[in-house]
Amino acid sequence: MIGIFDSGVGGLSVFREIKKLLPEENYIYYSDSANCPYGEKPKEFIIKRAKEITDFLLSQGAEIIVVACNTATAIAVKTLRENYPDIRFIGMEPAIKPAAKMTQSGVVGVLATAGTLRSDKYLNHKAKYTDNIKFIEHIGEGFVQLVEKGNVTGPEAESVVAESVIPLLEGGSDIIVLGCTHYPFLLETIQKVSEQNRPGQITQIIDPAPAIARHLKEVMEEEGILKSSYDAPGHTVLHSSGDPTILENFFKTI
Ligand code: DGL
Repeated sequence: MIGIFDSGVGGLSVFREIKKLLPEENYIYYSDSANCPYGEKPKEFIIKRAKEITDFLLSQGAEIIVVACNTATAIAVKTLRENYPDIRFIGMEPAIKPAAKMTQSGVVGVLATAGTLRSDKYLNHKAKYTDNIKFIEHIGEGFVQLVEKGNVTGPEAESVVAESVIPLLEGGSDIIVLGCTHYPFLLETIQKVSEQNRPGQITQIIDPAPAIARHLKEVMEEEGILKSSYDAPGHTVLHSSGDPTILENFFKTI
């Protein structure tokens, strides 16, 4: 069984890619909705929750864990790997490496939470590319709240998204990296705002979820825990530390 967790429904953007690739697996998804958002929470709190959620997922039979949250990965995955040496953890990382290769303007925009953007993990990763590439970062202010409300298109979503996306475009970014798993649910609105502000030009938007799903499959193959594709379709169990209806309703849409 594959365990997946996030602060809320954002991890479902990763889960939908995993399910496409591995439909016969069984899943348990944990949404820490009672504590969402993680973005501005103290490090110690996120590490504590990551350990508690890991214990829960393992107690339910998870054999591998996807930390489907950039913030929890940036802050807690190192501690998780140290504390559970027998368990493989698949974490998220803003896709700045492919973006650095693809950009024509030499400017890459990154949208993520405060926790991710100030983490050592992110800063060390970015430092490998800063000789040739300029990075402009912005917190997706209010994005997580929009997604949790299911309010991902329309005038309110557009005005919230514009506040964070326009500075990236004005700074010359031709690529935007989505460094938080909630943000892909706002893709349509991010695209619309980008088109309005860079008329006639394409802004590429990178969601790392498909690459994470492929990596998970490789690791499971390596560990010998992949189910045979001849098995029946798998099942999913959903858990939420808050109101389960938000998660259940969102799950139906992926
Ligand atoms: N979805 C999470 C991430 O990828 C957390 C967002 C939040 O709770 O602030 O960073």
